[in-house]
Amino acid sequence: MNNIKACIFDLDGVIVDTAIYHYKAWRRLANSLGFDFTEQQNEQLKGVSRVRSLEIVLQAGGITKTDAEKDQLAAQKNAWYMEMVNQMTPAEILPGAREFVQSCRDAGIKTALGSASKNSMTILEKLQIVHLFDAIIDGNKVTKAKPDPEVFLKGAEALSIEPKYCVVFEDAIAGVEAAKAGGMKAIGIGDPKVLYEADLVVSGLNEMTLDKL
Ligand code: G6P
Ligand code: MG
Repeated sequence: MNNIKACIFDLDGVIVDTAIYHYKAWRRLANSLGFDFTEQQNEQLKGVSRVRSLEIVLQAGGITKTDAEKDQLAAQKNAWYMEMVNQMTPAEILPGAREFVQSCRDAGIKTALGSASKNSMTILEKLQIVHLFDAIIDGNKVTKAKPDPEVFLKGAEALSIEPKYCVVFEDAIAGVEAAKAGGMKAIGIGDPKVLYEADLVVSGLNEMTLDKL
């Protein structure tokens, strides 16, 4: 992996661990509908959009809802999720994340955020790291969810860097696939057995150094 000119970071599971808050909010929603939702089932929601996540949750409970009801349920889940997000502090940034993004910038490598979350900006503000990214592409700016490469291609475009010079950091299989589909390198954050399509897998950004790029 040489000639890397830009690093594009997923948010949830890479910079911060919001999965637990997503899980608590989805479980509360499932419980309000009369069924339980396990942490294992929640694994299927990582990297998946809000609308698609709701469909998976409803399916788990064997429940069908109209589109209008789905809109209302997704809004309710998001309200419960945001109650937790609004309590977040910079202490929740994952180990090594701030330091690695900063070391990229110090080395003249451009940085972008590429996340499916429509709440990315609020989370970055809570963590006080908005200034660490030259471009922020979130769920409000894309129409196609990962594994479609749209979010990362828009990131590369915003940075004016060709995809082949970009590397994406991702904890979700769909995200690694999106990076590869966009002609970019992918570094997986997590288990190499799960993220085997990535060019390299590390357990967290605390294990990343510029010479691994
Ligand atoms: C990320 C998370 C998903 C979440 C999605 C949308 O990809 O990994 O679990 O569903 O963002 O997040 P939002 O904040 O817009 O509901
Ligand atoms: Mg993620």
